[in-house]
Amino acid sequence: MPPASDLRFLGKRIVLGVSGSIAAYKAVGLLRALAREGADVTVVMTKSATRFVRPLTFEVLCGHPVATDLFAAHQEMLHLTVPERADVIVIAPATANVLAKCALGLADDLLSTMVLSASCPLILAPAMDSGMWDHPAVKAHAEALRGRGVTVLEPEEGPLASGRVGRGRLVDEGVVLSAIEARLCPRRDWVGQRVLVSAGPTQEAIDPVRFISNRSSGKMGYAVAQAARERGAEVVLVSGPTALEVPPGVEVVPVCTAEEMTKALISRFAWSTVTIMAAAVADFRPKRPSLVKIKKDGASLQKLELEPTDDILEMLSKQKTNQVLVGFAAETEEVILSAKEKLKRKGLDLIVGNNVVAEGSGFGSDTNAAVLVDRVGRVTQLDLLPKRALADRILDALRELVVTSKRRAHPQPYGRT
Ligand code: CTP
Repeated sequence: MPPASDLRFLGKRIVLGVSGSIAAYKAVGLLRALAREGADVTVVMTKSATRFVRPLTFEVLCGHPVATDLFAAHQEMLHLTVPERADVIVIAPATANVLAKCALGLADDLLSTMVLSASCPLILAPAMDSGMWDHPAVKAHAEALRGRGVTVLEPEEGPLASGRVGRGRLVDEGVVLSAIEARLCPRRDWVGQRVLVSAGPTQEAIDPVRFISNRSSGKMGYAVAQAARERGAEVVLVSGPTALEVPPGVEVVPVCTAEEMTKALISRFAWSTVTIMAAAVADFRPKRPSLVKIKKDGASLQKLELEPTDDILEMLSKQKTNQVLVGFAAETEEVILSAKEKLKRKGLDLIVGNNVVAEGSGFGSDTNAAVLVDRVGRVTQLDLLPKRALADRILDALRELVVTSKRRAHPQPYGRT
């Protein structure tokens, strides 16, 4: 048992809402994890959730009666008193129906009534079939909730109860715990920092229809932008084409090509105190993109001539005054060696190296096992972490470098001091 001071949620009152998905059984594990971290948890179940798991299971584990019925609870006004005392409400799993009710403000059972009367942060961990998660109505509800500051976790991809494989699985309990931590104990240690982040791939036109791009999903850069914003920084996110929601409070500058990304970053670099290049910028682009669609039957595409794009980090490094400059190194082998070499060549303060072909890491995945190498040669190997948790670790490592950068009287790019 860790010392009480190490318990993440000691003294926190958490309402755990459980709705009617097959993933309801996973809420039992989540409840145990919350209790282990010292939280005082009240469980509220929807009627359909009780068909998957008996309330008694939760009652035994949390030590409180489980509330399920609005009318029974009404006598004690539980729909008002429980959320009033709560530090956070977490609904895991959240069905499409619960998501819709929260978005629309419907209150036809105890859980939805509590959500409506609560003023504490709300976290939803959706679980449903991929077809439902992809439905425009569900997407719109998730987006509306995020726009109101509700944390809606992106479900995971994998095998689903229906037998299909797709996005819709309830996230691991570690992801829910990190989300709770971020909402309960937001560290405001980045107030006063102006953070410029790049994310996603770039697209380089071959002709008006086709382009060269890469597998970057943008998730890492978006997670960094979100973490910096939540910790108090002003954040501008220069984003290549992605399918991701812009984190609340982050200003986004959408770009498509490496050239557009270069311009967007160069023009904002002087404003920033920290610039983090998480984008996967194309290294090459077609030399002469065709203005008309290239026909497949012609002889016109026997050879695609490419030219290199500018290395944005190297350009920024040359303009650097006292900004802290961070790069990523996407590698398939010799991660630390390559990361060190890129740190030096690109004049960086910190580089985040990762093996993009390792299990659980790389493009599109929700987790990453990264290694941090800083300008003074420190190497920190991190465990496999959700990208949002990794973003926090990167910001933690940068705090120190930001302070030292401020202290340098006449800061010089790396290697010239
Ligand atoms: N980067 C950049 N401009 C480019 C290419 C990459 O600023 N034209 C940045 C990336 O955003 C990343 C870092 O450089 O932060 C390293 O990118 P990576 O693709 O790992 O390395 P490259 O420099 O492209 O080198 P290589 O492809 O040879 O590994």
